[in-house]
Amino acid sequence: MSKKRYLITSALPYANGPLHLGHLAGAYLPADIYARYCRLKKRDTLYICGSDEHGVPIMIRARSEGVPPQEIVDRYHFMNEKSFRKFGMSFDYYGRTSSPVHHQTSQDFFRTLARKNLFVLKTDKQLYDPEAKMFLADRFVRGTCPVCGYEDAYGDQCEQCGSSLSPADLINPRSAITDAEPVLKESTHWYLPLAKFQPKLEKWISGHPEWRPNVRGQIQSWFSNGLKDRAVTRDLPWGVALPEDVAQAAGVDANGKVLYVWFDAPIGYISATKEWAAKKGEPELWKEYWQNPDTNLIHFIGKDNIVFHCLIFPAMLMGHGDYVLPENVPANEFLNIKGLKFSTSRGIALWVEDFLEKYPADSLRYSLAISMPETRDADFSWEDFQAKHNNELADILGNFVNRTFIFVRNYFGGKLPHLGELDDLDQQLIDRLVQGKEKVGRAIDEFQFKEATRQFMDVARFANKYFNDQEPWSTRKNNPEKCATTLNLCTQTAYSLAILMNPILPFTSAKIWKMLHLPDESDRANWEDIGTLPLEEGHSIEDIEILFQKIPEKVIKAEIENMRKLSEGGPEKAETKPAFLSFDEFRKMQLRTARVLSAEKVKGTDKLMKLRIEVGEEERQIVAGIAQHYSPKEMVGKTIIIVANLQPAKIRGIESNGMLLAVNDGDTLALVQPDRDVPSGKPVS
Ligand code: MF3
Ligand code: ZN
Repeated sequence: MSKKRYLITSALPYANGPLHLGHLAGAYLPADIYARYCRLKKRDTLYICGSDEHGVPIMIRARSEGVPPQEIVDRYHFMNEKSFRKFGMSFDYYGRTSSPVHHQTSQDFFRTLARKNLFVLKTDKQLYDPEAKMFLADRFVRGTCPVCGYEDAYGDQCEQCGSSLSPADLINPRSAITDAEPVLKESTHWYLPLAKFQPKLEKWISGHPEWRPNVRGQIQSWFSNGLKDRAVTRDLPWGVALPEDVAQAAGVDANGKVLYVWFDAPIGYISATKEWAAKKGEPELWKEYWQNPDTNLIHFIGKDNIVFHCLIFPAMLMGHGDYVLPENVPANEFLNIKGLKFSTSRGIALWVEDFLEKYPADSLRYSLAISMPETRDADFSWEDFQAKHNNELADILGNFVNRTFIFVRNYFGGKLPHLGELDDLDQQLIDRLVQGKEKVGRAIDEFQFKEATRQFMDVARFANKYFNDQEPWSTRKNNPEKCATTLNLCTQTAYSLAILMNPILPFTSAKIWKMLHLPDESDRANWEDIGTLPLEEGHSIEDIEILFQKIPEKVIKAEIENMRKLSEGGPEKAETKPAFLSFDEFRKMQLRTARVLSAEKVKGTDKLMKLRIEVGEEERQIVAGIAQHYSPKEMVGKTIIIVANLQPAKIRGIESNGMLLAVNDGDTLALVQPDRDVPSGKPVS
């Protein structure tokens, strides 16, 4: 890529849940490696990301928690930003699509396309929930998949067979909000006529034979099926509002209409760049990156985002006319976790936040990078993670740097010894560093991050072997001149390795830099310095610290066991680390007073009692395991406390709509009761 500027983006993660390892391996770690490398190469680099805060899943989550969507996106925006920081992501700016600048930018973009007459309007009958009084877009409808018969398919996709659907395709559709049967109601929407863009897109893609085969393959299959018109507006109460003026000109009521999340989200890259520029005090600078043809725009994404980044967003950019198109879209395949039945909706995943509480970010970066899912899906396993950490990071890299620095401290007073005449092996080491710089650099430039990581470790391995082969512990006694040269070169190598590893292992790089007592930061080093010998004789080495502590066998065994429990029994059975309950989470639990109206033992059981209770205006039935401690008669008339919004369950075939609170220490069981008379149905907090 010969253009001047590098504008790098990572897919904006949805702010409706925490990040897991699959996210990192897909769209984030490779982009961060690339961005860090570009900076070390002194390229004009800007790396942009942020939260994708619209879309139906966020609304569903908000509804299920009974809070406004803004509360959900605020929670996960900050949580994810923090996890990214802990993982060493070097975004220049992390924006969010609920920001006013983003809303403005997306609406302006939409207006421009409308003014250029690029949209097609269609009026269709759409599914409408008469109870919730809203149209049911995408995931708001569930029903039977027309392809495979799966009964719980979403309006936009069947999770069973993977078919992409539209809500009207579903058999027996139901509202995901109220479970009501939807009715058909007319609605007008704006469509992007992708078929019209197809020839232009095909021509543009054919100019990029260097793109990854998996990416080109997916694009070709979209082309050969023929691109279809895509609706880019929705009837939803959450999102970027459809611009009033555009709606008015078309004679449509803008009320209740928003832009489709996949229309506004990629524009989020642009609005985040605007915010970055404004914050920098150069509000026009964003244009240099987005509108100056001398820019390499590179989108890092997971494979499920290919159509949006390679076809739809480029069509939008072409249609608009003022923007550069992506130079490459290196999409990754998926990361599977060996032994884990992964399900984000059931909370089963390896979460970044938990992981980084226990293990160093660089160890995770290394193990994800060296088996990155570039051309096919990859597996993460705990055994492999341990092996990479112990056998490569600790035994090779860590060992080399440590023994070098300790030797210099112990035998040269912590000062870089004199570099004398070089023998063959010395020269080979220097050559190896220069080669490493070229090989690692080339691999990163070609988006081959696995290869880059392997090449880097090979250099470290060579260096470690060099230390052994030169036997400084003997030459110290019989050839001090040579010993000095060896240790000088080893220290210079540690310096080179710190730069070479910086894109992959930024924290370790910084630690070496600190021990080498260098000013500034290793992030600002110059890639071209790799393999030069810039440290001068007498340079001092400071506060030596061990780079990697080995991970013991029993720790990994416990992780594997924990994962097995997770996969089998869901999160409640596994020993997840005790976490604080947020106030919001606590508030989700509705505790209420209730009065027992009648009670009877459940036949055929010792413990269970069926209770009819009054909760304010409402009457309901619960089943409780109290029959060995209370008689039905003494229960009647009692005021108890229940969890009122517990998911209804069938216990021994009997419906239970809530759970009463009691203290149970094994022998005795005592009901929790208010200590004064209170009416039933009152909230407890
Ligand atoms: N939020 C989307 C996802 O996680 C990605 C959005 S990428 C953007 O799949 F370009 F639209 F921002
Ligand atoms: Zn299906």
